[in-house]
Amino acid sequence: MDFLGYKGKRVIVSGCFSGMGEATARILVEQGAEVHGLDFKETALELASFTQVDLRDPATIDAAVAKIGGKVDALFNCAGLPQTAPALDVMRVNFAGTRYVTEAVLPLMAEGSSIVSISSNGGMGWSRRVPVIMELIQQKGYDEAIQWCEAHMDEVKEGYAFSKEVIIVWTMLNAAHLIKKGIRMNCTMPGPTETPMMSHFKQASGEKVIDAAMQPIGRPSTPKEQATALVFLNSDAASYINGVALPVDGGFIGGVATGQVDLTAMMANAK
Ligand SMILES: NC(=O)c1ccc[n+]([C@@H]2O[C@H](COP(=O)([O-])OP(=O)(O)OC[C@H]3O[C@@H](n4cnc5c(N)ncnc54)[C@H](O)[C@@H]3O)[C@@H](O)[C@H]2O)c1
Repeated sequence: MDFLGYKGKRVIVSGCFSGMGEATARILVEQGAEVHGLDFKETALELASFTQVDLRDPATIDAAVAKIGGKVDALFNCAGLPQTAPALDVMRVNFAGTRYVTEAVLPLMAEGSSIVSISSNGGMGWSRRVPVIMELIQQKGYDEAIQWCEAHMDEVKEGYAFSKEVIIVWTMLNAAHLIKKGIRMNCTMPGPTETPMMSHFKQASGEKVIDAAMQPIGRPSTPKEQATALVFLNSDAASYINGVALPVDGGFIGGVATGQVDLTAMMANAK
């Protein structure tokens, strides 16, 4: 039984070279989907197509989406940069480029399609900054969004946490509009995950913070554990799930909310 409903579906996965995007593309191939991959670096996976894109360059996104064409049933926005990259590049890839891919793919989507993006539990502070985040989201074009960031570096800071907060608010906002066309949109909030990005997080925040962010489960996630949540959210089985920022963090956000994980102590250990 094709419970998730991916057989014969045309899907796009950005960030398919490594980590969560690679694990997602792998599962989707196993599920019988026609998988079109996008990344800065060429994938070793056997996909229906691979196109090199740089999310810092919208022209490469236009060319890639035009090449894929046709009908697209699901989009997986998995590409991302950590805070060890320059802050404006982080905003370009994690928000402006991710939004640009989504807006380029949307005209190829019909009722029943779905979009999922990866935020982070590092974006858990989103609700405190909605008005500022809305200001950025209202900058409609790619360049306008980056110009807003350049003028608001006090909010953007190192880029990573802010970009992940923006993804959550942007997902919730668009989900409410797109569902009128029968298109769903969600995102995940992963905890620390064993991907090439992990070493960058350790470098930026220190081992103690990463260890604390793995509580209460006490271990990092595998890329596959993140991919299965993404694959589920974009599947037919999740047809009533919309506008959600789903923690996939072994209980971290729940632990913080109920006072069992001490966020203040954790941040005191930050580099
Ligand atoms: N690893 C973690 O602990 C963790 C935790 C929370 C959230 N995340 C998020 O998960 C997502 C996936 O990251 P990951 O952990 O799998 O790391 P990763 O580094 O393995 O994957 C990121 C992918 O994005 C691609 N990419 C980077 N810059 C690009 C660009 N300019 N254009 C096109 N592609 C580009 C990379 O080539 C790579 O394939 C990211 O958005 C990341 O912020 C990761």
